[in-house]
Amino acid sequence: MSPDAFPSLHPRPRAGWVNDPNGPVRWGGRYHLFFQHNPDAPVHAAICWGHLSSADLVHWEPAPVALEPSPGTPDSGGCWSGCVVDDGGVATAVYTAVADDPANAVICLARASDDSLNAWAKDRRPAASAPPGLALSGIRDPFVFTYGNVRYAVVGAGEAAGGRGMVLLFRCDDLASWTYLGVLLDMEDPVASETAAGDFWECPQIFATGDRWVIILSLVVEPRPDRVFHLVGDLVEHDGGLRFVAQTGGLLDHGHDFYAPAILQHDGRTLLWGWSWEDAVDVPPPGVDWAGSLTLTREVALGADDRLHSRPAAEIALLHAAEHTIDLIGPAGSTDLPSGPLDLAIELNTDEGAGFTLEIAGMRLDLDLRAGTVGLERDVRVPWRSTWSTLGSIDRDAREHRLRIILDGSVAEVFVAGGPCFTERIEPTASPRLEFRGPVPARCRVRARPLVPRAQTSGV
Ligand code: FRU
Repeated sequence: MSPDAFPSLHPRPRAGWVNDPNGPVRWGGRYHLFFQHNPDAPVHAAICWGHLSSADLVHWEPAPVALEPSPGTPDSGGCWSGCVVDDGGVATAVYTAVADDPANAVICLARASDDSLNAWAKDRRPAASAPPGLALSGIRDPFVFTYGNVRYAVVGAGEAAGGRGMVLLFRCDDLASWTYLGVLLDMEDPVASETAAGDFWECPQIFATGDRWVIILSLVVEPRPDRVFHLVGDLVEHDGGLRFVAQTGGLLDHGHDFYAPAILQHDGRTLLWGWSWEDAVDVPPPGVDWAGSLTLTREVALGADDRLHSRPAAEIALLHAAEHTIDLIGPAGSTDLPSGPLDLAIELNTDEGAGFTLEIAGMRLDLDLRAGTVGLERDVRVPWRSTWSTLGSIDRDAREHRLRIILDGSVAEVFVAGGPCFTERIEPTASPRLEFRGPVPARCRVRARPLVPRAQTSGV
């Protein structure tokens, strides 16, 4: 991996292992983002909660590790994923405590003792454990939400026999002692079983948007993490608890390298970060002291098609340096682009409903206007991910299509307006080249905006 591979603008610390984002929260006038982290080596072991904070969602400052395993306690093997909630004015981390076997994980709490969220004190006793009577392969990844003025928590789960992901519901007015209410969602739901079949549903995130409820599920298809789906539907009261009834759903990100996202609802927006894993099966090569990244801050919203669409948070404009505009006219054209992190805004126009191909940084994007699809191909090094279909839908009647492609080191994030997004790990090149092929008289307008942290643009 070349030194250029490090995604310098993405939220992650300089070294160590990173997986899931955890507990994004707005606190004391700043955004705080925690994440699964091993500060000592680029491998998943002795997992802590790393911590970053930001005033503006794009410049992230490192903070001390927030939670680390405590010997002789339920989290002696790792502080796994969870969320942060305001519990009576105290920022409280609700996390998965793993002693040895993740199948025996319990849910624990830690309370912040300062407004910078740098110091945390753990509760002695777990708040919840797997409900008796269900043969589960474990519970993990608590997420707390409110419905009808009642505070609830969900956890991800799966049946020990395999084949059935589940989301379990608890009441948690008393955050320190939860009451199990039953299954919120499982594969009995026909839309869930058709859309999101898996052995375990990790990192459930649930939120209301308008009059709909959305649930995000990260699927384990044994023996490995697979992809992230979302379901759109309703919460209905059922047997003293709630059930999620799905009406529609699909992939949240159509790329090869996106997993375990976490959301934050703030100021009328739903913000989201995911984990972009390495495009490699083995541990990083000698000399490479980091692995994994969080994505840039995204905003998600339901589209006219009742699916969740993602776009980069508008604050990325704070990083934009002087823009270059390049027009490429079909049937074929290409241009060299500036080196370093880039935000490309691309407009494709055609009078004929045919199709476009864009190639950049080892990725090929095919927009097929006859079929109304867009897909992304690249040379994926991990065999099982290489078989994943990336096809998403676009409006086949539109004559203009807009895309954003954000390149930062080895992380590429591609957003098709009104269509899918793709998170990909790429081989960075010093000066990327964009190639365009389209039917005459297609036009591809590229606005290339180098991304520069503000302290550098102002020369501070
Ligand atoms: C998802 C996940 C979670 C777990 C965490 C451990 O990637 O497997 O289910 O809590 O990572 O790091």
